[in-house]
Amino acid sequence: MRKPIVAGNWKMNKTVADALKLVDGIKQQLKDESKVDVVLCPPFTALAAVGEAIKGTKIDLGAQNMHAEKSGAFTGEVAADMIRELGCHYVILGHSERRQYFKESDEIVNKKAKAALAAGLIPIVCVGELLADREGGKTEAVVGTQVRGSLAGLSANDMLKTVIAYEPVWAIGTGKTASPAQAQEVHAFIRKVLKEMFDETVAQSVRIQYGGSVKASNAKELFGQPDIDGGLIGGAALEAQSFIDIVRGAL
Ligand code: PGA
Repeated sequence: MRKPIVAGNWKMNKTVADALKLVDGIKQQLKDESKVDVVLCPPFTALAAVGEAIKGTKIDLGAQNMHAEKSGAFTGEVAADMIRELGCHYVILGHSERRQYFKESDEIVNKKAKAALAAGLIPIVCVGELLADREGGKTEAVVGTQVRGSLAGLSANDMLKTVIAYEPVWAIGTGKTASPAQAQEVHAFIRKVLKEMFDETVAQSVRIQYGGSVKASNAKELFGQPDIDGGLIGGAALEAQSFIDIVRGAL
């Protein structure tokens, strides 16, 4: 049985003060949701404070990005050991905004995934097609290429630790969610690719989150699909009540 994982991707939102208020709200309401892994991914600047605030709870900490190198002359970048030190267990890699605005290729995402695993972090590797890809009937070709490229050369053992997030780009921040059937179809396809790349055990064991305009009102139906194991939540993770309601949708 795969344990669902719901992660809040706060993106470039929340000062430390605002982050602490949000965590407080989440902590007050999260009781015994031990059937779901809950991860908060604040911006780098709030990682230390949020890490402190969730100590002793079941909530985990994640970063939204990292550099593949261990250290060196990479102005403005942050390395795996640095986020580990702040208590991160997870790191989101290859989010479509990184791919689009910061030109991250599958090759870069692949290097980062290997560096994250080597540092003991669990990568949440994001893939997803553009609207034009979907309309052109290229969803499987695009997602398949991203999965193969981003996860190339990982051992089956590393893959078993890795999380994948399927996020159709046209559904991110747009209010347009993929229908449960549309999402399920791509999740099943990703498992097929994993089987080809690794084996059946990996294909059936890896957790695949759905992301893209997940809300309290649609979470349960999406997460109820056989190949969907929770979600990566943007906008609706910025408010305690809606995030909690989404977490409960995975129970
Ligand atoms: P959204 O973002 O929930 O605001 O659509 C999801 C994401 O980008 O991870």
